[in-house]
Amino acid sequence: MNRQVLITALVLTLFAAIGGGLVSYTEQSTASQIRVNDKMMLLHSLKSLLPAQRYDNDLASSAISIAPHQLLGTTKTSRAYSATKNTDTVAFIFNVIANNGYNGKIYLLIGVYTDGSIAGVRVVRHKETPGLGDAIDENRSSWILNFNQHSLSSLTEKQWKVKRDGGYFDQFTGATITPRAVVNAVHNTLLYYQQHKAVLLQATTKPVSPKE
Ligand SMILES: Cc1cc2nc3c(=O)[nH]c(=O)nc-3n(C[C@H](O)[C@H](O)[C@H](O)COP(=O)(O)O)c2cc1C
Repeated sequence: MNRQVLITALVLTLFAAIGGGLVSYTEQSTASQIRVNDKMMLLHSLKSLLPAQRYDNDLASSAISIAPHQLLGTTKTSRAYSATKNTDTVAFIFNVIANNGYNGKIYLLIGVYTDGSIAGVRVVRHKETPGLGDAIDENRSSWILNFNQHSLSSLTEKQWKVKRDGGYFDQFTGATITPRAVVNAVHNTLLYYQQHKAVLLQATTKPVSPKE
């Protein structure tokens, strides 16, 4: 009887060990695949932000570290990417978080030309409601392209809002919270750039380690 209990316990332990090993292996291989996918999506988004003829460097390898800043919605060090042409800096692409989306944080890439005008804005991650707030996604609507070329001088402070709040940018039918959060984040990024332009232009572009 005791022998049978012992055998059963051993078999169960063996199955538990094999199961645990399989879970851990799957987790590890999935995590590395997710990193590869994230990198590919980042490259795709970076490339879609700037017209190819405007820069000649490898954007993904030109990351600079940006200290956390309220205007960028960040609480940890983030990355910005500098675009250069013939070694002259032509634009910066910031990782920005709009913390006041309808369903939480909206992660954005915001490209700003050195003259302070918007090169492009892309939503890289969000949880906004399909059919309502998700029109911020370029795959759903062209709304996000309305920021192109705008700057702190092309629109007044009051215009950097959705129409419902007296501003320039359309909201969506039945969904004002999401576009309001994005407009606010883009405006804040331009303010950040205005305040940090000199330091950014002086920053030496050096690759950062993937863990940074
Ligand atoms: C289930 C549900 C999901 C919603 N999702 C969103 C959303 O993703 N983004 C958004 O701005 N509003 C969303 N809304 C609407 C907001 O609650 C709010 O009414 C709206 O943003 C205000 O816009 P309006 O002033 O144009 O009505 C959602 C509402 C419901 C009931």
